[in-house]
Amino acid sequence: MAAHTRYTGLIEHYRDRLPVSDSTRLISLGEGNTPLIQLHNIPKLIGKDVTIYVKFEGLNPTGSFKDRGMTMAVTKAVEAGSQAIICASTGNTSAAAAAYAVRAGIKAFVLIPEGKIALGKLAQTLMYGAQIIQINGNFDAGMSLVKQVADHAPVTIVNSINPYRLEGQKTAAFEIVDELGTAPDYHCLPVGNAGNITAYWKGYSEYATDSATHKAVTNKRPVMCGYQAAGAAPFVVGKMVDNPETIATAIRIGHPQSWDLAWKVQDESKGWFDSQTDEQILVAQKMLSQHEGIFCEPASAASLSGALQDIASGKIPEGSTIVCTLTGNGIKDPDIAIAQCKDAHPVTIDASLDAVKRAILDNM
Ligand code: F0G
Repeated sequence: MAAHTRYTGLIEHYRDRLPVSDSTRLISLGEGNTPLIQLHNIPKLIGKDVTIYVKFEGLNPTGSFKDRGMTMAVTKAVEAGSQAIICASTGNTSAAAAAYAVRAGIKAFVLIPEGKIALGKLAQTLMYGAQIIQINGNFDAGMSLVKQVADHAPVTIVNSINPYRLEGQKTAAFEIVDELGTAPDYHCLPVGNAGNITAYWKGYSEYATDSATHKAVTNKRPVMCGYQAAGAAPFVVGKMVDNPETIATAIRIGHPQSWDLAWKVQDESKGWFDSQTDEQILVAQKMLSQHEGIFCEPASAASLSGALQDIASGKIPEGSTIVCTLTGNGIKDPDIAIAQCKDAHPVTIDASLDAVKRAILDNM
């Protein structure tokens, strides 16, 4: 009979591909192992013969892909004796840093742009008990301050410039190849700092050069497609953007930290960057919810939005297998969701059987 093994997080699962030793104390909340969900309704809706999967990273412990990087970064910070971590964040990194710091028993400081992070992310970060430092400035200003202060205070930076973050995040690519038995033809991601697109490429590349030792049958790597919000699209305009603006606050970033690395990904994978307007992003977010039952945050929907645009134009040809990463959970941004559904009509009735029956029959 097969032994029962409990999944205890991505470091344990991919231990031989990550920089840990037998004596490393793992700081984990059971992150990773997220579902790869095939879209059934949207391909029919667009009338194209494509296979689209979404990697739903919103189902990680704090509701975003950041947990993959944070388990590694905090594990290594603790191993090095650090008592405190710090990050700048548009919301998700701060939530993840706060949670993993609590788990480790160390302190978290998070710099966030005042008034520009989604409500759920703020609620999480408060509940986990991190020291929140709100700044009158955007993510890029916060990031610059974090880099400076780390030279003056005993804190470990856990933004994606910390190389352990990308080590953790590369495991998402491993999971996809383990599940599909090969890499997809195209991998579509929302891009902010471009840490995640770099991490996926690292994961695909490590598996490809090492294909004999894991379950995949080929050494294939996907074409990497990175999509930015139109008002925050430095990779599309080809230079840094000083005043980024988008409703997708998670990717409201004008000075990406992984600039050179991401251009290398584009080059090596023969991929591309493109932008999506806020409207297109919101349409894709709603489409996923209302046709597939998958609720992601606005920034995450940039991946599907971009993929749909490139499928429509034929840039991504019919017959392709595509994976879109949905980076965060829709519950994190209730304000946008409620605004998106302002034309929905919840009915209010008396608490009687008759009234409920009528409400059903009237709305069938
Ligand atoms: N999607 C979501 C939901 C994010 O929170 C982020 C980044 C990205 C995509 C972009 O990923 O930066 O690796 O290209 N959020 C960071 C934060 C900046 O502070 O939570 P990237």
